Amino acid sequence: QDDPRLVRIKESIRTIPDFPKAGILFRDVTTLLLDHKAFKDTIDIFVERYKHMKIDAVVGIEARGFIFGPPIALGIGAKFVPHRKPKKLPGPVVAEEYTLEYGTDRIEMHEGAVQSGERCLVVDDLIATGGTLAAGIRLIERVGAEVVECACLIELSELKGREKLMGKPLFVLVDFE
Ligand code: PRP
Ligand code: ADE
Repeated sequence: QDDPRLVRIKESIRTIPDFPKAGILFRDVTTLLLDHKAFKDTIDIFVERYKHMKIDAVVGIEARGFIFGPPIALGIGAKFVPHRKPKKLPGPVVAEEYTLEYGTDRIEMHEGAVQSGERCLVVDDLIATGGTLAAGIRLIERVGAEVVECACLIELSELKGREKLMGKPLFVLVDFE
C-alpha cells in the first residue's frame, strides 16, 4: 500500500517498551486517537474498502475493537456487534477460549446478535499471535454466519498471526514486524 495517509497513521502510534511485561513492545493506539486527522484517515480507509462489500455486521473485539469498529459500522451502514471479555454481557452468550501474546482469555457474544448467513467483518486494533481474531472467527462461524474479512490497524507480522485465521483474508494498515 502506498497511500500517503498511512505515513501519518503509523507515526501517530506510540511504542512503549516492556508493557505489560518485560520484552513486549506495546503498540499504543491511544496516541493515534489524539490526532484527529490520523484517526479520521484510519476510519476512512476502512470505510472506502468495505462500503460496497455487502457487510451485514461489523464485529468489534473488546476493548480496542470497540474504538475502531463502531465508526466503521456507521460509515458502511452495518450493525455493530461486540465480542466481550467474560461475564460482561447480560444475555445468553456463545463463548470461545484463546491464547494471547501475554496470557489466555475468553470472548463472548450475545446469542442472536449475528444471524445465520450474515456477512461479517471482524475488527480489532492489532493482530499479534492471531489467537483473539481466530476466536472471533470461530464464534461467528459457530452461529452459521460468514467472516468476509478481518481488519486491523496494526499487524505484528513476525508473530505470523495471519496464518491462524483459517484462511480468512486479513487487511491491515501498518506492519510493525
Ligand atoms: C490486544 C489487542 C488484540 C489482541 C491481539 O488485546 O487489542 O485484541 O491483544 O493479540 P493476539 O493476536 O495475540 O491474540 P488485549 O487482550 O490486550 O485486551 P484489551 O484490548 O482489552 O487491552
Ligand atoms: N496485543 C498483543 N500484543 C500487543 C502489542 N505488542 N502491543 C499492543 N497490543 C498488543
